[in-house]
Amino acid sequence: MSSVRESAELFAPSPDVVAQANVTSYEELARWAERDLEGFWAAQAEQFVWLQKWDRVLDDSNKPFYKWFVGGKTNIVHNCLDRHLTTWRRNKLALIWEGEDGDLRTFSYHALNREVCKFANVLRSMGVTRGDRVTIYMGRVPELPIAMLACAKIGAVHSVVYGGFSVEALHGRIEDSQSNVCITCDGGYMNGKIVELKKIMDEALKRSPTVEHVIVLRRTGQDVAMEAGRDYWWHDLMALPIARSATGNRSDTAVMDAEDPLYMLYTSGTTGKPKAILHTHGGYMVGIGTTLRWVFDLKEEDRWWCAADPGWVTGHSYIVYGPLLLGATSFMYEGAPTYPYPNRWWSMVEKYGINVLYCAPTAIRGLMRFGEAWPNRHDLSSLRLLGSVGEPINPEAWRWYHRVIGKERCPIMDTWWQTETGMFMITPLPVTNLKPGSATYPFPGVEAEVYDEHGKPVAAGEEGYLVLKRPWPAMLRTIYKDPDRYVSQYWSRFPGVYFTGDSARRDSDGYFWIIGRVDDVIKVSGYRLGTAEIESALVSHPAVAEAAAIGLPHEVKGNAIHTYVILRAGHEPSEGLMEMLRQHVAHELGPIARPEKITFVPALPKTRSGKIMRRVLRARALGLAEGDLTTLEE
Ligand code: WTA
Repeated sequence: MSSVRESAELFAPSPDVVAQANVTSYEELARWAERDLEGFWAAQAEQFVWLQKWDRVLDDSNKPFYKWFVGGKTNIVHNCLDRHLTTWRRNKLALIWEGEDGDLRTFSYHALNREVCKFANVLRSMGVTRGDRVTIYMGRVPELPIAMLACAKIGAVHSVVYGGFSVEALHGRIEDSQSNVCITCDGGYMNGKIVELKKIMDEALKRSPTVEHVIVLRRTGQDVAMEAGRDYWWHDLMALPIARSATGNRSDTAVMDAEDPLYMLYTSGTTGKPKAILHTHGGYMVGIGTTLRWVFDLKEEDRWWCAADPGWVTGHSYIVYGPLLLGATSFMYEGAPTYPYPNRWWSMVEKYGINVLYCAPTAIRGLMRFGEAWPNRHDLSSLRLLGSVGEPINPEAWRWYHRVIGKERCPIMDTWWQTETGMFMITPLPVTNLKPGSATYPFPGVEAEVYDEHGKPVAAGEEGYLVLKRPWPAMLRTIYKDPDRYVSQYWSRFPGVYFTGDSARRDSDGYFWIIGRVDDVIKVSGYRLGTAEIESALVSHPAVAEAAAIGLPHEVKGNAIHTYVILRAGHEPSEGLMEMLRQHVAHELGPIARPEKITFVPALPKTRSGKIMRRVLRARALGLAEGDLTTLEE
């Protein structure tokens, strides 16, 4: 789904949504931010608690290493938990969680804080301190946000690795982050099966012997190997006196500089080595809190459900930190949308009275296939707003979501953003007139533009490179340990402006239409994978000499991975080998990276300097013109 059909339809939000919206006029806010970017963001920052106020809102003296709220002191956890405890929200539900097996657990703000404090004490007792990196590799269980918040509370930097990743991906991320402590589960439930998280962790750790401690949460109860002196059960540690401080189940929240790192999150880029995007306590907090409040219009009584995985940025910003910043009630579900039947999601919307649902287009397309009867069996009248993220939503899926799930009452917030941006960047507000398939306008304060190859803005309706021209508070600060790559990757294609890696078009009404990635990133079911990662997983198999991966349109996944493989001498193409290689990629990287198709080829199209021309492979696969081939050497 590399492009979406532009539609002329305009959907006005329903009057009752507009009447109660936190934002009344997009134009007013956009004009304010355009006139006075710093004043605009300072006013939003005032909504949060600062232990010391900032001296400067934006420091741009060392571009592109921007700093926000310089001199300010806070801790995002102070704003997510501590400050609610002295208000009535102490008794409000912070988190409602349903396991795939139907388990239900709830946490008031008081209870969530208690668990976070205890776990923070456990981490401290293991010697984890400010600035230390902690790798978290868990299923979708409440202890995942608890672990993240506990790290943030003591000033440690969490690095969450998506629970669907596998040995090589996990190993690479532990190694690069130099974590001494890892947190995992015995296993996780997904689609009625068990994901062997601890076993994968053990395999990864064989290759990373520097890890000192592993904390293991018991979720499935399956047998796992526990290495004496290294591995500890979560429940054992939490029962020890070390989990309690002299003041009971409490723990001090470290006072952090606004610019201190909060977390790192690995994401895929152009090379095979994933890069860790670094986010901070101060600016990130202001960015995600403000965007969530305005775009999804959360009210005190609302129940918010972001159906992403906490292991991706969407989960970091909008399952864990964002809703807690606003003192909201967030719902979290462990398992697959279709388990045991395709009505699972809709039954939970009804059961918990969800008001706002935010998910990926791939989930909508997947559920759409099962027909309307499944959602129609449930009362979905609690829903007020819907959201979409991760890839372009095709107008057909948009209309189904709008009509069948939202009953034509609920506007769809199609939010465009990235791991790097931390927060929504191009997105409707509840008062925006919508066009199916368009993320509409830049958020106030965001200046987006579409450039041609030479860095000139293109005319309305023309396709080009999407860039961002002004800094924003939740922006990445750097790539961990690799500031040069930060500069070259994002700020050098067009000097001085941020290059997103996406192509887009702006229509004559100023609406943005995101087309897709123009770099070597493939979005598979909304998950972000790098072609180079897939290729290096393939090449690590002894039968493979060379490999190339590309994304091709897929009805449900958006894109599917297609690979081309040159075998080493002595290996013959066969169905069996093909299956073995697909398995191998799944084992190394994770099931989401399993290639849809492997084609054995005698040669790959390359430039004279030896770079694989993936665009030629794509064009051939799609039966399109191959374009400029002057540099081609097969
Ligand atoms: C794509 C996910 C179209 C885009 C939050 C971007 C989208 C990449 C949208 C970042 C959207 C995200 N419409 N495309 N609403 N949202 N994308 O880092 O290609 O996993 O560059 O962050 O997802 O993926 P990431």
